[in-house]
Amino acid sequence: MPLLVFATSNAHKTEEVAAILGEEWQVEDLRAHPGVTLDEETGDTFEANAIIKAVSGSRGAPGMLVLADDSGLEVDALGGAPGVRSARYAGETANATDNRAKLKTELAKLPQDIRFTGRFQCCMVLAKDGEVLHVTSGSVEGRLLTEEVGAGGFGYDALFIPDGFAETFGVLPADTKNQLSHRARALAAMKEQLDSLT
Ligand code: IMP
Repeated sequence: MPLLVFATSNAHKTEEVAAILGEEWQVEDLRAHPGVTLDEETGDTFEANAIIKAVSGSRGAPGMLVLADDSGLEVDALGGAPGVRSARYAGETANATDNRAKLKTELAKLPQDIRFTGRFQCCMVLAKDGEVLHVTSGSVEGRLLTEEVGAGGFGYDALFIPDGFAETFGVLPADTKNQLSHRARALAAMKEQLDSLT
């Protein structure tokens, strides 16, 4: 089974990627490669930050295929925020609970008679030995709630209802999320490239 190093320490993301790739790939993240360090995410697009993570991660894991993703939530009524700052929306040391609280506060300041449309975005980059091999992206449109519903998933999942569904990603089964999420879509496109390398 070929090995793919996923340049993240976010166990939730790794679980999703491993579930989507299935038995054909062995996915290990930075918890299994503690010596690999990633450069700071200084880009102002998902793609720029995913490239920073993939390239720096692959320099620390010579000869290995390294996948990185950068993802986040865009809310139209907030001008696209939190966007690339999704992980740090409530501050540099913020956790997911802080970030959801900040989002609820920002949404509460707006007129409540509009539908808060938005999307999750994901850019995935595959690199080896410091070189970018492939870039793919995916998104999922939906709407934001002003109160959390559901305890599944991670990040902003409990506040996001994907189009075509009545429940948040915090309620929908992981299998459902993994068929339609921004990460699933970016990874489906990347899987074609990965399969062509083996
Ligand atoms: P990254 O690690 O820089 O890509 O940060 C992405 C951030 O966006 C996460 O910390 C979450 O806050 C949010 N995010 C990305 N993907 C998801 C998702 O699938 N569900 C919920 N939140 C997500």
